[in-house]
Order: sequence, then C-alpha cells, then structure tokens
Amino acid sequence: MGHTNPDTAIDVRFTGGLEYTSLTYTVTKKQKDTDGNWVKQEVDLLHRITGYAPKGCITAVMGPSGAGKSTLLDGLAGRIASGSLKGRVSLDGVDTSPSLIKRTSAYIMQDDRLFPMLTVYETLMFAADFRLGPISGADKKQRVEKLIEQLGLTTSRNTYIGDEGTRGVSGGERRRVTIGVDIIHGPSLLFLDEPTSGLDSTSAHSVIEKVHDIARSGSTVILTIHQPSSRIQLLLDHMIILARGQLMYQGSPKDVVLHLGRMGRKVPKGENSIEYLIDVIQQYDQSELGVEALAEFALTGTKPPPLSEEEMSLSTVIPSPVPARWSRNQGDGHGDKSGKRLHLQTCAENEKDFDRSVRSPWNQSRSWSASQSGFMQTLGFTPSRQRNDHRTQNPTR
Ligand SMILES: Nc1ncnc2c1ncn2[C@@H]1O[C@H](COP(=O)(O)OP(=O)(O)OP(=O)(O)O)[C@@H](O)[C@H]1O
Ligand SMILES: [Mg+2]
Repeated sequence: MGHTNPDTAIDVRFTGGLEYTSLTYTVTKKQKDTDGNWVKQEVDLLHRITGYAPKGCITAVMGPSGAGKSTLLDGLAGRIASGSLKGRVSLDGVDTSPSLIKRTSAYIMQDDRLFPMLTVYETLMFAADFRLGPISGADKKQRVEKLIEQLGLTTSRNTYIGDEGTRGVSGGERRRVTIGVDIIHGPSLLFLDEPTSGLDSTSAHSVIEKVHDIARSGSTVILTIHQPSSRIQLLLDHMIILARGQLMYQGSPKDVVLHLGRMGRKVPKGENSIEYLIDVIQQYDQSELGVEALAEFALTGTKPPPLSEEEMSLSTVIPSPVPARWSRNQGDGHGDKSGKRLHLQTCAENEKDFDRSVRSPWNQSRSWSASQSGFMQTLGFTPSRQRNDHRTQNPTR
C-alpha cells in the first residue's frame, strides 16, 4: 500500500499504532412504531468493525452523516465506557484499556474552548503551563515556539484569538491553535473529530497539512472528515469508510479503484474514486440489498449482487421533502413519510444541527447510552431507519 504522490508518499505497513478487532457498540433506542407506540430496540451503532490505524500516518474515517464516524472515534479514544463497547483495542501490539488510551492521547473536538482575549502565543503558553507540569520556563517557551512554527502560526503569534465581537485570528488559524492546545504535551495518539468542518478549502487543507506533519513526526492520527477535497485526499494515508455503523472499505485511498473494480463497478472517467464509492454506497443503501451487501464484501470478499439501472441512477438527487434538520429529528431520520428511504447524508450541511453537547469535554468519558440518549429522545432524535424498513441499523440478533 502507498501513495503515488512523491511528496506525501510513505508505505503504509503496520509497524505500530492502533489496532481494533470486532468493535461493536449497542444501544437501546426507544422509537415509535406504526401505531405510535413507543418500542425499545437494540441497535448496533458500530457493528463488528475491525481494522487498524498505523503509526506515523493519518487515518481518515469517512462516510455519510450518521454512519458512525464520531462513534468509532469515541470508541477508539476510550470515550465509550468499556462495558458498552465490545471488542478489542490494542496499541503497538499490546491490549489497551480506555483509561490508558485517554492518558496517551489527545482528542480534539470541533468546538474549541479558547479565550478570545489572549493572543495565539499566550494561549499556547497558557496550555503549556497547564499541561506540561513542572518543567523550566525556558523549556516551555521552546516547546511553544516549536509548536507555533509547526502549526504555521508564526505570522499570527501576537494576534488575539478574538470572538464574534472582536476580529481575531482566521477560522483556519483558530482551528490550528485548538490543535496546538491539545498536542502541546506531545501525545502519541491524536483523535480529531471533523477538524476541517466550517473551513474554506484552503484553510482546511492547511489544517490537514499540519496534522500530516504531526503524524509524520511519529504520532498515530485518526480523524473524521466529510468530503475531503482531492488535495486533502493526497494527505490521507489510510481510510476507513463506514455506513450505518458497518465497515464499507478499509485501506489506502489509491486502492479504492481496485476495490470498486472487484465489486464490478468501474469509476467513470473524470470522477473521483472516493466520491464514487460513497455514491455506490448510497445506491446500495437505497436499494433492497442495503449496505449490508457491501459490508459483506468488505469483510469476506463476496461480490455484492449488481444493482439495476434504476437503482444505480438514484444517488444523484437528494430528495428533501422536509428540511434536513427536521427530517433528522423526526424519529426516522433516514425515511420519508411515503415509506421510501431518504438518502444517507454525505455533506456537512447538517453539521451545525447536530447537537454536540453529547460529546462535550465534560461528559466525554461517560457512556452515552444512559442519560444522553434520554436527552436525545427528548429531542425526538432517533436516527434509525424508517419504520417500514426491516433492515434496521444492525438490530442485534
Ligand atoms: N447515544 C446514542 N444513542 C442513540 N443513538 C446514537 C447515540 N449516539 C449516536 N447515535 C446515532 O448513531 C449514529 C452514528 O452517529 P455518529 O455521531 O457517530 O455519526 P457520524 O458518522 O459522526 O455523523 P456526522 O457526519 O453527522 O457527524 C447516528 O445515527 C446517531 O444519531
Ligand atoms: Mg460525527
């Protein structure tokens, strides 16, 4: 495995990093049946996910909205109570526990907690004071200077962070400062949930470029990302594509073409192979076969049955009979009233609508299944498939 781009290319051979085997995360959801009665159902948010994230590389978790990307990240980062998450996670070949992972990793969330009235330099010095413990002032300064350089923040080092009222650093710089705050102590494992969302393509690229440098300096980086540009795709070493909590693809971005070829789908000329694979996933999701056929293929190599012409033409138009936010919160986030399943969402358009409080730093070590799912139910947020669809999101057998 490896990239074709000579600037970024390294061979992805597993010489350490994170490995995970058969990760399954089941929650009990309450949802309304056709008669309007509340019924409880066990659903796998992650279903037997096996794979790895090599050291020194960026592993990108991709897939449509609601696929389970953040859930997988949470699981790998030890943010799901170990009793709830089944399966094994090992670091550099040794079985590990959620508490050990938490101690050796940094988890960077999208919503930052920066002080608007501090400059970039002051923010990082503040983080150094907090995270580096009793080391000399000179060493702290040196670490901060190195980080400022590494994150490309030299020209904005004395700029205020700012807020809505006071103009400060740009969105991309702000995201890089957030990353700096969390990696100042040099964690060997780095988790980033949607580090590029809300950024323009240039800023997004520069964030990933810096994260790429951090990976190359010896860290294991795992991030979730929506629709990366082709420039960003060149910086990704390893990919995990999920849909409905199941593994659709794992491997190098360049092997996606091969993977599609093996399932009998040739990437049309001029199309991006990763985007095409996501289209194909949507087509299967809309069809009678469901994404399970692709999960089976990813797991065993059993070629999925081909789709009809009609099914193949489905993925281009995204029907939105109701606003996305509304459909997401209406109990059957993947279906419309006519009984036809809605498409999996592939873009960040709903990102703002997603209630991130369930992943706030204050509750990140707790299991979601208890209090938070109650909160989500209060909002009517039950993202499983629509009621007429018997192939619900991995209902446990
Ligand atoms: N505690 C929970 N209880 C019930 N369902 C949950 C819980 N947490 C997440 N889900 C559901 O599990 C699915 C996967 O959620 P997750 O946040 O991992 O998706 P995602 O791939 O990160 O999506 P996005 O791209 O929108 O961030 C979604 O359908 C979500 O609504
Ligand atoms: Mg997410």
